[in-house]
Amino acid sequence: MAEKHAWWQTGVIYQVYPRSFFDSNGDGVGDIPGIICKLDYFCWLGVDAIWLSPIFPSPMADFGYDISDYVNVHPLFGTLEDLDKLVHEAHLRNLKVVLDYVPNHTSDEHPWFQESRASRTNEKRDWYIWRDPAPHGGPPNNWRGLFGGSAWQFDELTRQYYLHLYDVKQPDLNWRNPAVRQAMYDVLRFWLDRGIDGFRIDALQGVVKDEQFRDNPPNPTWKPGDPPYLEQIGRYTEDQPGLHEIAQEMRAVVDGYEQRMMIGEIYLPMDRLVQYYGGQLDEIHLPFNFQFVTMPTWEAQTVHRIVDAYETMLPPGAWPNWVLGNHDRTRIATRVGREQARATQMLLLTLRGTPTCYYGEELNIQDVPVPLALIRDPMGQENPEHSRDLVRTPMQWDSGANAGFCLAEVTPWLPVADDYQSYNVATEKEDAHSMLTLTRTLLQLRRTQPALTLGSYHSLEQENTNCFVYVRHYHEQQYLIVLNFSAQEQVVKLNGQGHIVLSTYVDRTGPIDFSTLHLRGHEGLLIDKTGA
Ligand code: GLC
Repeated sequence: MAEKHAWWQTGVIYQVYPRSFFDSNGDGVGDIPGIICKLDYFCWLGVDAIWLSPIFPSPMADFGYDISDYVNVHPLFGTLEDLDKLVHEAHLRNLKVVLDYVPNHTSDEHPWFQESRASRTNEKRDWYIWRDPAPHGGPPNNWRGLFGGSAWQFDELTRQYYLHLYDVKQPDLNWRNPAVRQAMYDVLRFWLDRGIDGFRIDALQGVVKDEQFRDNPPNPTWKPGDPPYLEQIGRYTEDQPGLHEIAQEMRAVVDGYEQRMMIGEIYLPMDRLVQYYGGQLDEIHLPFNFQFVTMPTWEAQTVHRIVDAYETMLPPGAWPNWVLGNHDRTRIATRVGREQARATQMLLLTLRGTPTCYYGEELNIQDVPVPLALIRDPMGQENPEHSRDLVRTPMQWDSGANAGFCLAEVTPWLPVADDYQSYNVATEKEDAHSMLTLTRTLLQLRRTQPALTLGSYHSLEQENTNCFVYVRHYHEQQYLIVLNFSAQEQVVKLNGQGHIVLSTYVDRTGPIDFSTLHLRGHEGLLIDKTGA
């Protein structure tokens, strides 16, 4: 349908957290052969690309975001050949494969860092960020790590501090060093040459640091118990001069290959985020739009305002994107509740722009409480409340032991949800009203109705209702989306008629007159008003 549009514009991305997807070899941890077993699931569901969180060799201090070899596969997940096979099998099914690319830091066990730390004169010393102690001792400045504590670690051997914006085992690379840049661009080329379709770039906002290492201001609203990454304002550690140039250089590497893309994790306010599309759209194809992940309350008016503002802020020609959750943040079904999550799914899959779905959202999975003794996430070490393990628990495939994630006699690396017998693929597949059926129907509609992918967006004002109403319009095709954000019944007043194509309750279709548009609590309606 869309010759002029790239796959990453019309397609839907699905985030796989490999440790938790499917365990094929009985060690309680998901793996690449396990993902290969499940490729037909993605096709059945109707997504277009899978993004794998890191599968590279790693001591797993930050579950793969601490990489000790960028160009190989961790034996826990399989081999490079397994990954090649995954790409091959995915491509046979018309599925794209996107890998995580972690430019900000390596593992402290990466050979580059091992060399760098060996002596002050080592040729890789300057590949990382080393500083002398402050004049009266202690860390060189006040920068705090995003997992808590100082961002500086003193290294006895050479009596200097190295910088780690994340865990102490994740030293930051020095992107001011041209040799680092070249080595990291070679990493991109390595995977592009192997047929990888794109990259999700990790923590791009922090890749360049202030040249003068000035102190960051404290965040005045932060209080103990709040997430550690909010403790300071990253004035001198985020979005620094020189970062756009790096984004352009990454883009140039990726553009050397056909039909590849980058989706960037760049936590910044919207006005600065959208600049990472690049002035000539020559930077990141899709700077992740995290507004639905970070917004504190979920109300129709707020969402309406956010969507309209984002649409206005996008540079000409820039392609929007939306996401509800990821491996770092509380799941949407926990934040807004399971009933409302059905309406958010309709929102995600009918807004203009590329959606990214987090595994398990299609099943309406909620955060899974993880007992203190089982917490694994470094962010949960200081304060278990901030552990991200809760959103990384095993995928729920069926109602058998361990939700079908691993064999009955195996202990999965994180516990399985208590209510998995109701929320799993096999059970929901059979249920005409399940979240899975709803999601699959929405994905099928997206695939077949150009208005939902290519159509323009405009919202309609709704006073005195907690509803968000918008239209997607493409040539003669027009869809009206009406979403009730409240638990109460709402009446929306519009003119004209249409035809209900889908309710989030998956129980009604047929003609509707807009003068009596009644919505049940949390209901979303997708209405075809073509020709009406
Ligand atoms: C990103 C990842 C997160 C990781 C951090 C450090 O925010 O999404 O999981 O801990 O970067 O790599």
